[in-house]
Amino acid sequence: MSKQIKKIAIYGKGGIGKSTTTSNISAALVEAGYKVLQFGCDPKSDSTNTLRNGKYIPTVLDLLRKKSKVDAHEAIFEGFKGVYCVEAGGPAPGVGCAGRGIITAVELLKQQNIFEELDLDFVIFDVLGDVVCGGFAVPIREGIAEHVFTVSSSDFMSIYASNNLMKGIEKYSNSGGALFGGIIANSINTSYQKAIIDDFVKKTSTQVVEYVPRSITVTQAELSGHTTIEAAPKSQQAEVYRNLARKIAKHTESRVPTPLETDQLREWSAQWADQLLAIEAGEVRGEKESI
Ligand SMILES: Nc1ncnc2c1ncn2[C@@H]1O[C@H](COP(=O)(O)OP(=O)(O)O)[C@@H](O)[C@H]1O
Ligand SMILES: [Mg+2]
Repeated sequence: MSKQIKKIAIYGKGGIGKSTTTSNISAALVEAGYKVLQFGCDPKSDSTNTLRNGKYIPTVLDLLRKKSKVDAHEAIFEGFKGVYCVEAGGPAPGVGCAGRGIITAVELLKQQNIFEELDLDFVIFDVLGDVVCGGFAVPIREGIAEHVFTVSSSDFMSIYASNNLMKGIEKYSNSGGALFGGIIANSINTSYQKAIIDDFVKKTSTQVVEYVPRSITVTQAELSGHTTIEAAPKSQQAEVYRNLARKIAKHTESRVPTPLETDQLREWSAQWADQLLAIEAGEVRGEKESI
């Protein structure tokens, strides 16, 4: 009997830390003995770099451009402690649709039953951005992923992208789409950043899965071509990623979030702007907090 494969999608705005976070989750899960496949769904095709000593791999779309029939095994590469790495790839810059690449790549692996064949415990999709294009919604639609998380800092554009993602989830939730697991709060180093994210999850009926600080350990690891788990296994930051991975491994209860309408989101952010001014002016805590 085949075991249950847990399929997770991690979304977020470009440059927010999706690949860094996803790769560290994958590394922590393989370290804990699970079988994991990380599926990069960003035309940048760099999702799995730090699991493979900084090296790029040929993408599914690269392979399909060379020949019409591709054996899915050709697109799967092993990395840190046997983690499986796949990159969907993208069209040549300026031509074609990036979303289509994701559809094609996911279909290829599904048709050839690769997830079952590899006896996986987890498939983690690392997906770019706002759900503005049908292709990027593929892991949410059609039950490809069951649980969706978003990486977000407390910056408005990042929260805006998370809110958009929630709108996509809400839209597909009636037709068997994925549900929302929560926000992975990245680059949270001050109490006001935490307060902003905490307030946003309250407004949208969701939760913060883990607070991940911005840390030079991550930068060092990335520059050396590794995850933090691999480069600095005893660091505090590695422990943060292990905690996050444990929570994601245990996670079962995802739900339909309640995203804000665009004008509500604007009102909400304006109210935070006023609060930050008050904090800066020392009116709230009676002391000036560095921003
Ligand atoms: N918690 C963190 N601490 C320090 N640097 C981080 C952290 N998270 C992400 N970064 C850095 O931010 C940059 C963008 O991260 P990346 O994971 O590539 O973003 P994305 O996949 O969302 O485009 C990278 O240089 C990465 O090292
Ligand atoms: Mg990325």
